[in-house]
Formats: sequence, C-alpha cells, structure tokens
Amino acid sequence: MSSSCDIMIEGNGIRKSFGSHEAVKGVDVTIRKGEVVSVIGPSGSGKSTFLRCLNGMETIDSGIIKIENRLFANRPGGEPDSVNQNEKREITKKVGMVFQHFNLFPHKTVLENIIEAPIIVKGVSKKEATDYALELLEKVDLLDRKNYYPSRISGGQKQRVAIARALGMKPDVMLFDEPTSALDPELVGEVLKVMKNLADDHMTMIVVTHEMQFARDVASRIIFMDNGEFLEDSDTETFFNNACNPRIQNFIQKIIEK
Ligand SMILES: Nc1ncnc2c1ncn2[C@@H]1O[C@H](COP(=O)(O)OP(=O)(O)O)[C@@H](O)[C@H]1O
Ligand SMILES: [Mg+2]
Repeated sequence: MSSSCDIMIEGNGIRKSFGSHEAVKGVDVTIRKGEVVSVIGPSGSGKSTFLRCLNGMETIDSGIIKIENRLFANRPGGEPDSVNQNEKREITKKVGMVFQHFNLFPHKTVLENIIEAPIIVKGVSKKEATDYALELLEKVDLLDRKNYYPSRISGGQKQRVAIARALGMKPDVMLFDEPTSALDPELVGEVLKVMKNLADDHMTMIVVTHEMQFARDVASRIIFMDNGEFLEDSDTETFFNNACNPRIQNFIQKIIEK
C-alpha cells in the first residue's frame, strides 16, 4: 500500500496547447519516490512539453500537479491557477532538470557553473556551495576539470557538469530530457553511467530517452507517449515483453534497427 507520503509527483488531467495544437492531452501521472520512469515515444509526441509542465517551464492550460503533496499547479477545469508564484518557485527548487543541450554558462568555469544557482537562488554561502560542488564533481568524475571553461571540455563532460549543476540545488526529483541525444556515440556511455549511479542512490528520476538498453536496465517503469497521450504506462518488464500495441512495437523495432 502506498500513502501520499510515498508520492513525488502526482498529475491529473494535464493539458497544454500551442495555438490550436494540443501537445499534451489531459494526462494523469503518479511518480513514487525513488522510482525511475523512462518516457519514450516518437518525436513531436509531447515528451518535452510534458516534462516542462512538471517543472513549471510551461504553464498548463488545465489540470492539477502536486509535487511532494504540495499543489504546484491547480487548474482542474481550466480556470486561473490558484497557486501563487512564490510557492511555485519554492517547489521548483526541488525539481532538477537536465536538457539535451547543456546550457552551461560559457564565461564561467565548471565549478562556477555549479555554485551559481545555490548561491543566487538559495542563498547558500560560497564556501558551502563550493564544498558541495566539489563533492558532486567527484561523483561525476570531473574533479580535475573544475577550473576549465565549458569550451575546453567534451560534450559528455559538459553533460556531466550539467547533471552536477542540477544536483547542486539538492533536488528531490530529476527530470532528464534526452540527455544523450546531442552527444557523439562514444560519449553516451559516460553520461548514462552517471545517471545509473544516481538511480542506484535512489534519486527519483523521469528520463526522456531513446536509449532502450538504459530504459530496460535502469527504469522501473516505462511511459510510451504518442500524440500527446500515454499509450502505455507499465512496469519495464511488462512493457518490453507484452506491449502489443503495433505503434509501440513498430517504434521499438525502428530504434533497435538503427
Ligand atoms: N513552444 C512551442 N510553441 C509551439 N509549438 C510547440 C512548442 N513546443 C512544442 N510545440 C509542439 O508541440 C508538439 C510536442 O512537442 P514536444 O513536446 O517538443 O515533443 P517531443 O519532445 O516528444 O519531441 C510538437 O508538435 C511541437 O511542434
Ligand atoms: Mg523533446
């Protein structure tokens, strides 16, 4: 039996349109603490929009989102959101996000990139932020690059810095939007390894990815998104063994053939 305390994210009827195009069509989702959920599906199916709704980068048109049992967005029938901006900002600090493109500050060193948000957004002292950043750099195996500028490190290293930077805010849940899609194939493994370590440390994670082996090995659950909806939301084993929907089979087959 799970109680509401076990739930990290709960969404009901989440909708988001861009003009007349409905990108997310009223999805329901529950993410439990410690769960690793992979979101897969064709390009344009709404995966990024869905993730961005969960961290407030998109304002939802209707629906309810709760994060750690706190209302994050509340528009059940599309009425104005009753959650105030301060409350949203507080909750957002607990939601880390890593994008396909690393978005590191080019004029800051690796270390400076990581300590920026904790100092500015959370008011942590420089000493405390630095100590923690060094710990995180050790974790992502980049301590020796701490004084490098982003232009001097590889794409895989940049993405590992981006992960450390998100972790610097001490989030309770991490959202990854195709974190390895922009990388040369030989750099994908080092990033997936860092993500697997995070999962082993029981971080709650939602990972949009085309890396089927990673999804299979690390995710406990798979959501297949198609055309703004969840076509399937099931545990990993069931998904890969029993997904009988032809669209899903076709998608998996295409990726495996690549
Ligand atoms: N900011 C935006 N403005 C207009 N259309 C958008 C915007 N973001 C996404 N879309 C559209 O919403 C749909 C879903 O996009 P997206 O969430 O990026 O899908 P995915 O991540 O699965 O590729 C696509 O048709 C896309 O063109
Ligand atoms: Mg996307």
